Amino acid sequence: MTLSREQKYRKLNQASPEELEQLKEQVASCPWRQSYHIQPPFGLLNDPNGFAFYEGEYHLFYQWFPLGTFHGMKYWYHTKSTDLAHWENVGIGIEPGDPQDSHGAYSGSGIVKDGELYLMYTGNTRNEEWRRLPYQNLAIMNREGKITKRNEPVIAVVPDGYTDHFRDPKVWRANGEYYCVIGAQRTNGTGCAVMYKSQDLLSWSFLGEVSTGLDDFGYMWECPDYFELNQQGVLLFCPQGLSPEGDRFQNIYQSGYMVGKPVDVRTQKFKHGLFQELDRGFDFYAPQTTETPDGRRILVAWMGLPDVGYPTDHNGWAHCLTLPRELTLRDGKVIQQPVRELKHLRKEEVTAEAVLHNETKSFSGLQGISYELICEFADADAECFGIEFRAGNADKTVLAYDRNTKKVILDRSLSGETIVTDYGSERRCSLDSEKIKFQLFVDTSSVEIFVNDGEEVFTSRIFPSMESTEIRFFAQGGSVTCQASLWKI
Ligand code: FRU
Repeated sequence: MTLSREQKYRKLNQASPEELEQLKEQVASCPWRQSYHIQPPFGLLNDPNGFAFYEGEYHLFYQWFPLGTFHGMKYWYHTKSTDLAHWENVGIGIEPGDPQDSHGAYSGSGIVKDGELYLMYTGNTRNEEWRRLPYQNLAIMNREGKITKRNEPVIAVVPDGYTDHFRDPKVWRANGEYYCVIGAQRTNGTGCAVMYKSQDLLSWSFLGEVSTGLDDFGYMWECPDYFELNQQGVLLFCPQGLSPEGDRFQNIYQSGYMVGKPVDVRTQKFKHGLFQELDRGFDFYAPQTTETPDGRRILVAWMGLPDVGYPTDHNGWAHCLTLPRELTLRDGKVIQQPVRELKHLRKEEVTAEAVLHNETKSFSGLQGISYELICEFADADAECFGIEFRAGNADKTVLAYDRNTKKVILDRSLSGETIVTDYGSERRCSLDSEKIKFQLFVDTSSVEIFVNDGEEVFTSRIFPSMESTEIRFFAQGGSVTCQASLWKI
């Protein structure tokens, strides 16, 4: 489908009431609307933006194109929550279309200053010759929740040495000053992140590139984020253009991090370890973090990827955000666990316990479309064991541990309506452990799997039939004990 510029850059107020009504009906008739994930009312959602705790509430915005499921004129849509579990739709946060964001209010971040929430974002603009000119802009939210855009960009030019792929400012405060990282592309066509400094969030000076030692690591780094945990520095970013390597880098674009000594803000030097992927699943991109009032580092990501079609496109909407995860560091690795507040979502509990021996078994009451499931496997001599969920006559999503290869495997080849298979239907990662614990958050069209308390996470959309509600536990080539608890959500 080739889209005209007029179609791509349509604003919400250009749609007639009838068109919007029709769009809402189309969305309402979709079987795959989520029940507890943040999803757009209609249109396309992508990156989380402006995630911050302000005036007693978490504010979380996302990239939103209302009038299609392609990447068009991006708005910031605003949601908020008091507990990170239940979210309320607030409405449009930042509306694009002014000279500093004429072709979209692209991604950015939020930080509280002097009782107001400062939102720094990229204004995507195109000039008469259709040349892209990115501006870094500010919008400020006051206590009444009113958001006011500043007309003047706070960073109006791309420094020498970088192309117009220059976006996604993430701001933080350290030693009484503000810093930000911006995703960039060098003029030689390689990706990197650059750093700026400010006293007041309004006037910024360019410091230079975050000096990582990755001189040729993809053609563009999107959505960088930087924070410190246990006196270590963590740089998150999304490099585009990496080739698959074994089980790694299987998706179209990657999201990952490097841990090291805190960035030296005077020299921008960052001495770091290897780039590691945050998630092992099929649908995860553009993560953004924030800090809670009690000092936890929380991450939310887009449960989707750019340039890939999804089955709900025909229903007038696409994508959702992941659940919030708490990050901690262990031996240079980021461990991710569902935030404890997600327990507020738990309703009635059902449990089961069994020894499985070369068989596949279901338990009464253990089934559903929307639930949290914890299953712990131990005492295995089976070659392979695991679960099939959202299973029915034709569908099943299979999560297994293969003891021979010591790998966790997620197979969505039979997960229902097909999602583009160009990038395969199976994801694997190594895990050497006698005990295997799977914690799953299953919603109508997604699953987030935390393995061994967040050592690995697999995040994926799945599109099974509403009749596919079974959960089956299996052991092949021997036996395993299994203990399961399910909470309806
Ligand atoms: C990442 C991204 C960002 C950009 C935004 C536009 O998915 O491409 O780099 O700011 O999405 O929606």
